[in-house]
Amino acid sequence: MMKKKVIIAALAVTGMFSMASAMSNTNYQIYKHSCANCHGDQAQGIVEKKAPPLNTMSREDLVVKLSALKGTDYENHSKTMESNQRVLEKKGMQYDVMKMATYIYYAFSIEEND
Ligand code: HEC
Repeated sequence: MMKKKVIIAALAVTGMFSMASAMSNTNYQIYKHSCANCHGDQAQGIVEKKAPPLNTMSREDLVVKLSALKGTDYENHSKTMESNQRVLEKKGMQYDVMKMATYIYYAFSIEEND
């Protein structure tokens, strides 16, 4: 693990933060860094941010909503989140819709998992 620390330190020193984050691009980290501040660390939603809970959505619903947010299906999703998504994408955020929906569902859902 020593080697990994050295590499990370080297990347930090040279300011290659984007590469460092690409190396650790798990859905857990994407959620934590790009979603939790609005939707909550348990996807419970944050009223003050007007961000709805995601932990009550079915996996299918998450797939539909996340696909709509990623694409250009403007009929099928919220405009506010659409612009949040574009801001996050400009900062380099990328995720696979199926994997992110699965992650959010199994990590946070308060419904009975199927
Ligand atoms: C800056 C705050 C903010 C961040 C960051 C954010 N969201 Fe949202 N999100 C919102 C708000 C506000 C809404 C509800 C907008 C509305 O109702 O019009 C929303 C709505 C949603 C919805 C429901 C969309 C719909 O069409 O019903 C999903 C799914 C979602 N967000 C997922 C995510 C994911 C995944 C991330 C991280 C990649 C994320 N959000 C990051 C604020 C945020």
